[in-house]
Amino acid sequence: MMKPEYHITPEYGFLNDPNGLAQFNGKYHVFYQWLPEVTPQGNKRWRHCESDDLIQWKDKGCGLQPEEWFEKNGCYSGSGVIDNGQYYLFYTGNVRDKTGGRETYQCAAVSADGNNFTKIGPVAYLTEAYTSHFRDPKVWHKNGRWWMIVGAQTKKLKGNVALYVSDNLKEWKWLGNLLDESMDWGYMCECPDIIESEKRDFLVVSRQKEDGCRAMAFAGKMDYKIGRFKIEDCSGKYLDEGMDFYAPQSFVDEKGRCLLFGWLGSGEFDYQMSQPAVKEGWLHSLTIPREIFVKDGELCQRPAEELKVLRKQRQKFFSCGNTMIDPESSCIEVYAKGLTGKSISIDIGGVLKIDYSKDSKALRVQRKKWDVDEYDERMLVVKNLVDIHIFLDNCTAEIFVNEGKTVLTMKAYFDVDTKILVYSDKQIEVQ
Ligand code: FRU
Repeated sequence: MMKPEYHITPEYGFLNDPNGLAQFNGKYHVFYQWLPEVTPQGNKRWRHCESDDLIQWKDKGCGLQPEEWFEKNGCYSGSGVIDNGQYYLFYTGNVRDKTGGRETYQCAAVSADGNNFTKIGPVAYLTEAYTSHFRDPKVWHKNGRWWMIVGAQTKKLKGNVALYVSDNLKEWKWLGNLLDESMDWGYMCECPDIIESEKRDFLVVSRQKEDGCRAMAFAGKMDYKIGRFKIEDCSGKYLDEGMDFYAPQSFVDEKGRCLLFGWLGSGEFDYQMSQPAVKEGWLHSLTIPREIFVKDGELCQRPAEELKVLRKQRQKFFSCGNTMIDPESSCIEVYAKGLTGKSISIDIGGVLKIDYSKDSKALRVQRKKWDVDEYDERMLVVKNLVDIHIFLDNCTAEIFVNEGKTVLTMKAYFDVDTKILVYSDKQIEVQ
């Protein structure tokens, strides 16, 4: 098996959430939750990497390590902002007491060079409204002030998000719950984020529910006067329809683009530990960087345009009936377009199968399991399928449907020599 080539992936050890994202003096900085061992449990740190172009990532070692009393059991997830030529990180200090009880501190660290971070210590405190499941501060600037949201569990054991405000990034005042308690926020909202656009904003939470944990986006408007997020659409939308996507985080880069990375991983302990990567001493990746945009009022994601240079070989052909492609690699981009009114099937080495029927309007994605000869499946209704854009990277698949209105992200362990079979009932263009 081969590691992903263009995804952020640890050399060894375990990766989960993207953290502290920012562009600072031209360079992109990404941190991620990291453990030197390959199992998911332990005192998490922030591993740091840096890039000029969002493609080549330089590993910079540990950015934050649990070494102080307020973070002794882990530097948990959080975000980054730039103020006055300084790069600030906000994160959760996770502390376990002698009886196994949990304490949580929202902490800050600062750097003038983007390499060495000095810890400031706790800056925002838990209030009596919440249990100690309280973590993942996301900070941003708006209307001349700093705002922080923290994923929370209320004393009624329901998910919510706490809102704080500050004028100096060091003293934070709690303003109450961001969300209407009448809605179903599961039992905990992890990794909250707000993505703003002109007309509509989107609140993103990684909602923990008994029947599963998924990243959701809710359309609405952030009302800074009353400190509430007003939801327009109570049912929300999965930010990603695939099996392995969680804890996404966005940031606005120096060009003004909103970029997002997610954890390309998920799941129960056994599901994670069964993966072939574990035997090689590493586990999980981040997604490719995705540009967020709003189209027809919907939150959409497209691969950052920088990724275009990754295509080394180009093949372009028009397919009708069966066409076999032999890319001689399992690090591939496939783009099928002009699909309106047509049926299509794409089979990638028997590991990933995508089928769309123009009659039933059903899009089926099947991903082969790695430990048994079975498939996991997702079924979606897509009224008018226009295009399918797939990024494969040896053991990952990201499928962008209809210019990014729907995305499916998953682990898919491909063979080194993977062949692609495309079938369509009428002529389509594949490149
Ligand atoms: C989400 C999460 C966060 C937490 C981090 C710990 O995957 O559980 O809530 O900060 O992972 O690694």
